[in-house]
Amino acid sequence: MEAARIEEVVGEFVSLKRRGVNLIGLCPFHQEKTPSFTVSPAKGLFKCFGCGKGGDAARFLIEHEHLSYPEALRYLARKYQIEIEEHEQTPEELAALNERERMFNLNTFAQQYFSKTLFEHHEGRAVGLSYLKERDFKEVIIKKFQLGYSPDQREAFSAYARQQGYAADILLKTGLSVGSEEKLYDRFQGRVLFPIHNLTGKVIGFGGRILSGDKTKAKYLNSPESEIYNKSKSLYGLYFAKSAITRTDNCLLVEGYTDVISLHQAGIENVVASSGTSLTTDQIRLIRRFTNNITILYDGDQAGINASLRGTDMILEEGMNVRVLLLPEGDDPDSFVRKNRTSEVEAFISENATDFISFKTKLLIRQSGDDPLKKAGLIKEIVQTISLIPEPIYRSVYIKECSRLLEVEEQLLLNELNKLLRQKFKKQTGEQYLPDTPAPSPEQPRIESQEPEEQPGYYQERELIKLLLQYGNQDIPIEYVDELNYPVSATEKVARFIIDDLLYDELWFSQPTHRKIQDHFVEALKEEVVPSEKYFIHHHEPDVALLAVDLLTTPYRLDNWESKKIYVKKEEDVLKDAIIETLYRYKDFVIQQRMIQVSEQLRQATSLDEQVALMAEKNKLDRMRQAINNQLGIIIVK
Ligand code: CTP
Ligand code: MN
Repeated sequence: MEAARIEEVVGEFVSLKRRGVNLIGLCPFHQEKTPSFTVSPAKGLFKCFGCGKGGDAARFLIEHEHLSYPEALRYLARKYQIEIEEHEQTPEELAALNERERMFNLNTFAQQYFSKTLFEHHEGRAVGLSYLKERDFKEVIIKKFQLGYSPDQREAFSAYARQQGYAADILLKTGLSVGSEEKLYDRFQGRVLFPIHNLTGKVIGFGGRILSGDKTKAKYLNSPESEIYNKSKSLYGLYFAKSAITRTDNCLLVEGYTDVISLHQAGIENVVASSGTSLTTDQIRLIRRFTNNITILYDGDQAGINASLRGTDMILEEGMNVRVLLLPEGDDPDSFVRKNRTSEVEAFISENATDFISFKTKLLIRQSGDDPLKKAGLIKEIVQTISLIPEPIYRSVYIKECSRLLEVEEQLLLNELNKLLRQKFKKQTGEQYLPDTPAPSPEQPRIESQEPEEQPGYYQERELIKLLLQYGNQDIPIEYVDELNYPVSATEKVARFIIDDLLYDELWFSQPTHRKIQDHFVEALKEEVVPSEKYFIHHHEPDVALLAVDLLTTPYRLDNWESKKIYVKKEEDVLKDAIIETLYRYKDFVIQQRMIQVSEQLRQATSLDEQVALMAEKNKLDRMRQAINNQLGIIIVK
């Protein structure tokens, strides 16, 4: 690590310009137009002030090249000609390798055997390679994806592997062979093989495509589940797609092996396939390690539509953004790419990918026509999908969008949404006492219209509590300057951010229940604990519990957030802006209250000294309001 020069390591991937003691460049981890990615040779660190990524040279390789820590060290060692002693394994050590490693070893061996057969064996060339070429796959792409061919004989591979010293039990465990340890047969006999890789590029299984049109046999045969291959937790093509996914901040999701390969060949590399299984939550979480945005690109037939709808709901439930793109009926991405030029495909994708709400709405409108009963069903369906989104802010955005598209009053949709959320809440907590309160209108909060005068500030306090309860434990990015005047980006819990801010200005909520909750937060944070929503929902004091429940079933009230293209904005940033705006609104309110008092005192003031002091305070309050409103303006138009 001492030998590694951060600017040289990063410089291989990012073009850097000197600025003062540091170097800057466009961040490789998020899309940006002006550089906020900083490299500090003196500190040996990189840091992006846009997305918050940062660390040393090894960390950069881990993040950018998706290497493991040892792999990153090996990379650096090679670069700086430092020898790492890694001795070759003796036969005894090989035998002692654990089962997983033996399976990986065998798969590597098999992949090489199948590729060699494809390119060098006469049958491989005549049958396998000519098939792939007929499908327009070029040699570079065939090699990149390590495609292969298994001879059309019952045991060619198994026998050769045994002869090379690979154990029968491992041949069976990887599924490359079937039968028994005494008599092994080749699983993939006579098929073209698509190796399936894990994130580090190791082969964990194979998909084998039949070449004949024999309808009695499955078109694809896949490796069975094993200790190293878990279908529902892997995605075909992710290893080859990951850096493109990070770069474009989007992942295209297709159905099959050939779709992935064709798109790659066309230069569209941020693509993976769930191949053969319907999409799983684990697969979605795998994608989330690289991006928050998924574009589903399925066939335009009914099966494709159904799969898209299912996928959409699952992706939303994971809190990610999803777009859907249906291809013309009869096409899959593979055939579509072969018919069109790359630029046309790219244009088609960017022009036709629609967010899930428009997708589902249009689809359902097409299905239901003018039938009012069907339309009611459709509304329920869509709100049902919206209710899966974990983030209240996003739910509200989509409710608005849905109201616009369907020409239905927002309030109606909100009622339906709240009903569903309440049901879900009951199911999750098993609690029955949840009050069936009518949903407050977003324009006129119920509480405010009931008791506006008695409880000044009720509404502003309530908004802050809502943020504390719903997001208290989430991290938001913060920036500050350290002792050496070096800017530092870090994260902080939402609860810490809000509570410290209030403490700093010595602000205490006036409404008693609000104050209780604020006190709880202050106390808990002293112990570095963020009290959870559950803690308040189960609170022994009924007013506290009721407020928590009430807030839980009220969607976050949006002011101007929906106009801000939330799709492209980072969730933490949206949240941070929302928090700052809410804090400012609260402070603005507090200042207004104080100004009313000061004006009153001024009217009654008798001595000149008193008047001067009050005037000074009034001016100061004025300036504070001005500053706050300027800041609010910035946030709102940002
Ligand atoms: N699949 C499978 N087993 C089958 C059929 C399909 O595992 N019997 C999986 C494969 O991963 C396949 C994907 O489902 O890639 C999509 O199936 P399909 O669209 O039928 O295949 P394509 O990938 O389009 O293959 P081809 O273009 O060669 O027909
Ligand atoms: Mn196909």
